[in-house]
Amino acid sequence: MTKVITYGTYDLLHYGHIRLLERAKALGDYLIVGVTSDDYDKTRGKINNKQSLMERVAAIRATGIADEVIAEEYDGQKIDDIRKYGVDIFAIGSDWIGKFDYLGEYCKVIYLPRTEGISSSEIRAKQSHIRLGLIGEAGSELTSIDKFVRELKYVNGAEAICANVKNEGIAFEEDFDAVMDSSDALYIASHPTKHYDQIKKALINGTHVLCETPISLSKEECSELFELAEAHNCILMEGAKTAYTTAFERLVLLAKTGKIGEIVSVDATCTSQKNLKSYKENEINNNWNTITEWGPLTLLAVFQVLGCDYKDIRIETKLLPETKDFDIFTRVSFIYDKAVASIKVAKGAKSEGELVITGTEGYIYVPAPWWKTDYFEIRYENQSDNKRYFYQLEGEGIRYEIVAFVKAIENGNGSFYIGQDVSKAIAGVMEEYYKGKKVLLI
Ligand code: CTP
Repeated sequence: MTKVITYGTYDLLHYGHIRLLERAKALGDYLIVGVTSDDYDKTRGKINNKQSLMERVAAIRATGIADEVIAEEYDGQKIDDIRKYGVDIFAIGSDWIGKFDYLGEYCKVIYLPRTEGISSSEIRAKQSHIRLGLIGEAGSELTSIDKFVRELKYVNGAEAICANVKNEGIAFEEDFDAVMDSSDALYIASHPTKHYDQIKKALINGTHVLCETPISLSKEECSELFELAEAHNCILMEGAKTAYTTAFERLVLLAKTGKIGEIVSVDATCTSQKNLKSYKENEINNNWNTITEWGPLTLLAVFQVLGCDYKDIRIETKLLPETKDFDIFTRVSFIYDKAVASIKVAKGAKSEGELVITGTEGYIYVPAPWWKTDYFEIRYENQSDNKRYFYQLEGEGIRYEIVAFVKAIENGNGSFYIGQDVSKAIAGVMEEYYKGKKVLLI
């Protein structure tokens, strides 16, 4: 019996796939199809799949062409499989010519001509075509529109069509209403003081919004915006790139599954050191202060892990001289029922940008810069019990954020990564900062 094996993602199974499977099967008597797992696809930069592994496997099974379907989960697995299943022929489409010659040591390698004119990417792009308008200006180091546009290229189904952007590198500048009216969705990265009005206008107009965090500077406004989104059948999503990275997502889940016992403290630090003294007054007004720029990401870690129900909050801040609320350093401390938390953020001071989640049995340690990490450790008293976790990260999480936004628009649900309660709690801390009652100037 001649055994043939082939691999692929097979998202939204199309006739190009079927033709390949039929020809692969005709090369022998028994066909094994390896379908890539969702995690493995992410590590190879395939982030756009519409269907889950289970759905893709079911579609392959339904063709009746494959004798056996397996999941492909790691680099190097092909060699393992060829040995394990006693494979005689490895077949793959001609888009991979040369790439799998190394398997020739284990079995025969055959490249089959690819069917012209069809691909999963094309089908995905046709299925959803979201016209994205860009709103914003330079000012935040974290939220450059240029970076966003670069990352957008990796996402199927969304395209930037116009912009109201004061920033180098974007050629066109139209007014807000014109951009809104010709878009299905807006990416808003304007100064946080403009978010509420801009988001409100967009939602009333029936336009979806992905807004750089914080969504607004008060809890009430934030709640109102989510209600508006619901009333107008729109997605309102918080653009906090860290939330969309696999490493962060997984560490929050691990923390919640009791791997480090009961959580007693979450401590997150984000700092950048700028020469703020050279800023002119209007530049200060256009720039994001520390609490709005770095605060939300650190707060995300606190609220995702400990929830939003804290009992007390205290804020200490150091202002840039002669400004009313431009903080160069801020520390926020939270008291929960059974835990505490703190965030330390700065644009005019420097510290170690790490995240530590302390538990009764161990701690999760994310080294600097934790907000764009691909790596973390769970550490215990007995060092030999320590565990290391690595998850490929591309584009600082921005491209995953856009994929999540596109999916949210298609599925009509966007609160999977960042719950509305977390968005509201972040806005609530901004509000406390600007109200000043709980703020101590240092
Ligand atoms: N394939 C093919 N003809 C096509 C598309 C794919 O022969 N028009 C083959 C590929 O060469 C591969 C298998 O089908 O051997 C699975 O390919 P996959 O990457 O899952 O499909 P694509 O449509 O190429 O997906 P994408 O657009 O996401 O890259």
